[in-house]
Amino acid sequence: MAEIIAIASGKGGVGKSFLSSSLAQSLTAGGHKTLLVDADLGGANLHNFLGYKVPPMGIYNFLREKTNINDIITQTPVGVDFIAGSGDILGMAHITKVERSRFIDKLKNADYEFIILDLGAGTSFNMIDLFNLAEKKIIAMNSEPTAIENAYGFLKIALYRHIERYLSSEVQFDEINRKLRNKSATYQNINSISEDIATVDQNAAEEISKFIESYKVGIVLNMVRFKKELNVFYGFESIIKKYLRISVEKLGFIPYDESVGESVRLMLPFYSSNRDSGTAACIDDIHQLLLEKL
Ligand SMILES: Nc1ncnc2c1ncn2[C@@H]1O[C@H](COP(=O)(O)OP(=O)(O)OP(=O)(O)O)[C@@H](O)[C@H]1O
Ligand SMILES: [Mg+2]
Repeated sequence: MAEIIAIASGKGGVGKSFLSSSLAQSLTAGGHKTLLVDADLGGANLHNFLGYKVPPMGIYNFLREKTNINDIITQTPVGVDFIAGSGDILGMAHITKVERSRFIDKLKNADYEFIILDLGAGTSFNMIDLFNLAEKKIIAMNSEPTAIENAYGFLKIALYRHIERYLSSEVQFDEINRKLRNKSATYQNINSISEDIATVDQNAAEEISKFIESYKVGIVLNMVRFKKELNVFYGFESIIKKYLRISVEKLGFIPYDESVGESVRLMLPFYSSNRDSGTAACIDDIHQLLLEKL
């Protein structure tokens, strides 16, 4: 079965699509059979990073026309297999849970080692659930305070939803689940959830602690201009450990590079056309750590 790598951020415009497309090219170049999927259901534009002005056939065709999954895979000139998103914004933003499961099921059974999901910004349940089902979870961010805050917010909602799913089969946790579902942060941190669970069932609280500690995410800092920005990694990691208690792997950074935007304008996929650049080397390093640590 293929392993799913999901790339999310919370804040928009931090470089999820650039990172997804570049990692797909790096993994493919490294001999790992990889399928890149535009899962930004409301604002698909990953095709722009692969040299396409308009999306080729994609998810929409699969869901609405019951097309075979193999028929919607585009072999791109850079060797990456690709499933495009939809230009039909309203149609795709409302994909149902059943449709989503059918699609993911087909992806998992497709003949690939890795499936990369480029997720949309924000914290819609579609994005959160796609993130949570991935074997490898990556958060992209830059060093702006809003990006850091939104990355934290995204992880918090994703983790709470993950716990809620875990507890949902037991009636005794109904009240806790109701509070977990409340996005306006009824629980300020993970310890207060654990304490509530312990008042209901001490053994369950211990199990939940293990469950939380096994939730692991990789972080990538993008658009780095100054070395001191790398301190963001340490600050973010300590906040996550303190308030959410999940494990964080620093997968690496990508410098701010004018050629990224330039290559989108020229319709040339960045990684493959700048193979010898320092930026491509950073992407290869992220690829290595992703395989070793996540
Ligand atoms: N390392 C970088 N250096 C310079 N420009 C970059 C870098 N990474 C991304 N960009 C540029 O920043 C813009 C946003 O990147 P991208 O579309 O990948 O972000 P995103 O997180 O996928 O956005 P969205 O939330 O809208 O999906 C693009 O114009 C891209 O060319
Ligand atoms: Mg994007």
